[in-house]
Amino acid sequence: MRITAFVRCNQRRAYATSVAGSLGKAVDQLVNAVNNPKKGPRAEGTIASVFASLSGEEAVALPARFADLKREIAGSESAKEALTASWKDLIKDLDHTTREIARQGSDIVPDVTYAEIKDGLSTANIDEVKKRGCLVVRNVVPESQALEWLESIKSYIQKNPQVKGFPEDDKAVYELYWSKAQLEARSHPAQLDVQRFLLSLWNKKSADSGTVSFNQPLSYADRLRIRRPGDSRFALGPHCDGGSVERWEDPLYRQSYKAILEGRWREHDPWDIASRTEANTNLYDGPGACGVFRALQGWTSLSHTGPNEGTLKVFPAIKESSAYMMLRPFFRSIKPKIAVSRKDYLAADNWALDVETTDFPGSPLGRSQEFSDETHPHLELDKTMVSMKKVVPGDCVFWYADGIHSVEASNQGKNAASVLYIPSVPLTVANAKYIRDQREQYLAGVPPPDFPGGVGESGFIAKGQNEDILTHEGRRAMGLAPFDLAAATDSGEQDLLEQA
Ligand SMILES: [Fe+2]
Repeated sequence: MRITAFVRCNQRRAYATSVAGSLGKAVDQLVNAVNNPKKGPRAEGTIASVFASLSGEEAVALPARFADLKREIAGSESAKEALTASWKDLIKDLDHTTREIARQGSDIVPDVTYAEIKDGLSTANIDEVKKRGCLVVRNVVPESQALEWLESIKSYIQKNPQVKGFPEDDKAVYELYWSKAQLEARSHPAQLDVQRFLLSLWNKKSADSGTVSFNQPLSYADRLRIRRPGDSRFALGPHCDGGSVERWEDPLYRQSYKAILEGRWREHDPWDIASRTEANTNLYDGPGACGVFRALQGWTSLSHTGPNEGTLKVFPAIKESSAYMMLRPFFRSIKPKIAVSRKDYLAADNWALDVETTDFPGSPLGRSQEFSDETHPHLELDKTMVSMKKVVPGDCVFWYADGIHSVEASNQGKNAASVLYIPSVPLTVANAKYIRDQREQYLAGVPPPDFPGGVGESGFIAKGQNEDILTHEGRRAMGLAPFDLAAATDSGEQDLLEQA
């Protein structure tokens, strides 16, 4: 929710309640319903609708207002000069950064154990995690537990052959959200400990303390993947979650990249939560939109999977990728790629400020932000998208909210690459509203608000039940138990918890 809307909402509510006297409660409920509408269910479908590339769509030119938007953001002549100088500096940095990533490959991904997180990581380790924007956490749950979850999911699928998934005829990503294994995994105490640690990487440097609380993670229900050996159809190209043109178009979202858009990319703190929690990341009701602010995306592995075995790939330099993503629409190449050598094409003097065109490369309306060598050449994606290290069942992998990630083109391994998607989601008012709506859909057994709708698992045999939620904290994360008001660290957070 936007701050202004929030203030208006409270003013309206106060006014309505004072004039209505004994009718206050009814009016309050009505005002509340108008201001906090529930999301309607989405159309049926699969993950294919999320990506322009998977749905087979051609790139479409954006409307003329996007050129105005670029001019508005670029600002005065001196601001444009600062932006250009910053872009040139970034290109030079990327030349070094991309070489370093290509040299180190998967080894660059920070790798810690759950026990180390419990003991407290060193500052150097934390800095590395923040720099790379991704990590492997080992031994979050015992291997035997993770394998048990996989078996229980397989048996659930067998009992319910009508289950949807992508690709339809040979499923790799299942439209399953409420299996017993998923409910258990999301509410496992170690999973919640890790999530609290991940949320603690963020800071409220330029945020209002009443906008977010990091110590009571929420449970965002997502799908699961069982990608059998040989599959090459569930191959997602490099993309980034959390909207597309919204990053520039929504004033609060744009605020999170203030330093970058003012020509000071080196001062950008990717972990400053700023106004992200209130940003509108979904202006076009896109099928892939996420209704919560997801601080890190993640999965829990249910299989032995390593590089080339259908795993995740990431671009492991967050400040650089965020800066490049945000500055890229403001610059165009002077000589096209086919006319010159790659070195000359990428050279800083081949790129000129562009506030005339509506080009926002790789940023379609209502779809995910996508990256390729055509749209984002300085990232050298062919060499810099590094595969996750080898993981075993019970290990988890997480990556930063804006991290560029992809799924390997094929699974060349012997095992199905199997994961439960379990992200890290902080408590905010908007996130709590989503959890409220998600709770209803959980109780009805239908897909969560963000996902393709339909009857889902409502008629499934052996669907997960409340008793499969393992902990009180897990129930709280699902909106099935009250938030802990005593955990507030200041009055702003206290207000937030009360509203939530
Ligand atoms: Fe993604």
